[in-house]
Amino acid sequence: MVPKVSTLGGYIFEYQKSVSNPTGFWANVADSYYWRKKWQNILDWDFRRGYMRWFEGAKLNITENIFERQLFYRANQTAIIWEPNDPNEACRTMTYGELFEQVNRFASVLSGMGIKKGDRVAIYMPMVPELVVAMLACARIGAVHSVVFAGFSAQSLSERLIDAGARMLITSDGGYRGNKTIPIKAITDEAMNACRCVTTAIVLKRTGEDVAMQEGRDYWWHELMQKEFPPVQAAEMDAEDPLFILYTSGSTGKPKGLVHTTGGYMVYTGYTFRNVFQYGDGDIYFCSADIGWITGHSYLVYGPMLNGAKVVMFEGIPTWPDAGRYWEIIDKHQVNQFYTAPTAIRSLMALGLEWVENKHLGSLKVLGTVGEPINEAAWHWYHDHIGKNKCPIVDTWWQTETGGIMISPMAGITPTKPGYATMPLMGVQPVIVDQEGRQLLGNSVEGNLCIGYPWPGMARTIWGDHDRFIKTYFSAYPGYYFTGDGVKRDEDGYYRILGRVDDVINVSGHRLGTAEIENAINEHPLVDESAVVGFPHPIKGQGIFAFVVCTHFSTGGEEGIKNSVRMAVSNMIGPFAKPDKILIVKGLPKTRSGKIMRRILLKIAEGKTSDFGDTTTLLDPDIVNEIVQLAGQLTD
Ligand code: WTA
Repeated sequence: MVPKVSTLGGYIFEYQKSVSNPTGFWANVADSYYWRKKWQNILDWDFRRGYMRWFEGAKLNITENIFERQLFYRANQTAIIWEPNDPNEACRTMTYGELFEQVNRFASVLSGMGIKKGDRVAIYMPMVPELVVAMLACARIGAVHSVVFAGFSAQSLSERLIDAGARMLITSDGGYRGNKTIPIKAITDEAMNACRCVTTAIVLKRTGEDVAMQEGRDYWWHELMQKEFPPVQAAEMDAEDPLFILYTSGSTGKPKGLVHTTGGYMVYTGYTFRNVFQYGDGDIYFCSADIGWITGHSYLVYGPMLNGAKVVMFEGIPTWPDAGRYWEIIDKHQVNQFYTAPTAIRSLMALGLEWVENKHLGSLKVLGTVGEPINEAAWHWYHDHIGKNKCPIVDTWWQTETGGIMISPMAGITPTKPGYATMPLMGVQPVIVDQEGRQLLGNSVEGNLCIGYPWPGMARTIWGDHDRFIKTYFSAYPGYYFTGDGVKRDEDGYYRILGRVDDVINVSGHRLGTAEIENAINEHPLVDESAVVGFPHPIKGQGIFAFVVCTHFSTGGEEGIKNSVRMAVSNMIGPFAKPDKILIVKGLPKTRSGKIMRRILLKIAEGKTSDFGDTTTLLDPDIVNEIVQLAGQLTD
């Protein structure tokens, strides 16, 4: 069993140990896992080169830690409780024994189809148990999975397939989301046609709709699973062999494929899951995140399953058939720990208490949030109406890059404060720096958040571009990992995350680069250029405000352009990246050297009409007033 801290004193003691002797601390945690061969060296690192290696020389397979390590006593225990999109469709449950059987079978299929250790396999699927089977089967044979959120467009998917050099794509005919059916196979067809690397697709039947199957490339999941492929052994992996690639947006350029490796990721996610949620044997844990994001990877699949947890997996959306769906699921399955995003809480809060009042919610012990800052009103609503004033809230701060939770209360142990991620977890050494890179010591300080020492769960590189990895995370403040977030350490030493300080925006917990959206908008033939900024949005956290420079109009006029701009973004990235507000302008506020003054646009997007600071360096200061006037007339 992974060690668990259960008192505040215990936390303080363990934390001290973890920073005074990090390698000894993590070696002790690692001892609770199953390694075919132990490590020769616990940690070797140099942040300046973006070089971190944990448990070097060790051999393992992460799925042996989920299955073989626990199977003797867990074979008949529930692993997955699957709640379908439609509440009238039957739930499915799978025990660890059954999941193991499926994973082995699918591992044989993959290997029978020619997939070998180190090959990249992309997964683009709805939230169904087979998605977990596919991931774990990849891990079983040492293939590197790359799950792409099934809300991304064909173009985004194909970019990721090409970048990862994926040989195979695992997908489904369609998917359900609320009252919509998503044509998943058609999207993947378009994506596969745009890339040469994918030679095989395995298609799960979910909706039963008619889909085109390409002879020699596309195979049905159910047919392959019935075939007899020779059984395969779990691959022996080095601790530092890649486990998966997951793409995320940055402030510049195309999305980055962050690479997580096997040993450290396993040690870190298993440990943080158990401690943050204070998961106890037999508890039922529900994580509402989609597996297409890091939260689903680390705290729906790997972290919980390394602890033999019973995991509720939900296919649908929180507002369908009505806004009581999450609460109904919690009552139906007697959920003990519930982990979701502030945006979901805010949207349900806005729909009123009537959806909560008729629910019992008595099984809940712990509530969690992730992905964006939680405002105090949403925190209190969650605490009072969902947690009934008796459940601690763990506001967990972390990132795709960090692999697991970094700053967070431990449920029931760390005293909480609304809006605060509170204290660093074991082994995490936060450092706050000012713009010049000077470390801000003591309490009551605010600045940029860095981490001063490696932890086992951190990403090791960007797939195919290590220089970019160094440049993005280790160059702004040499010697530290830079998170891209602003932070405050208050008078009690508590951490409050203030949001991104770079050009990344967080829309409903989805991370998007403003440059990515601008690129999509600029594809429009009538658009000269554009600038995208985030603005405070009551439900989404941040909304997308696009300033679009357009001097020629076609027959549809301004409205026509706005609609086609929205379509362009939807096609190039996905519907979730569509701008909330589009303002057609004649020009952007630029300095004489041609740099867009984003701080002015940010203020305009917030609704400010004056106090734009020093505008003397602007090439054309009048443009600001013009934009302010137009913004005042914006209705949507
Ligand atoms: C933000 C999600 C405030 C932050 C796990 C970070 C948060 C980005 C919190 C990473 C939180 C995540 N409070 N902000 N509890 N958790 N963030 O990679 O800006 O999708 O840098 O990982 O989300 O988003 P990502």
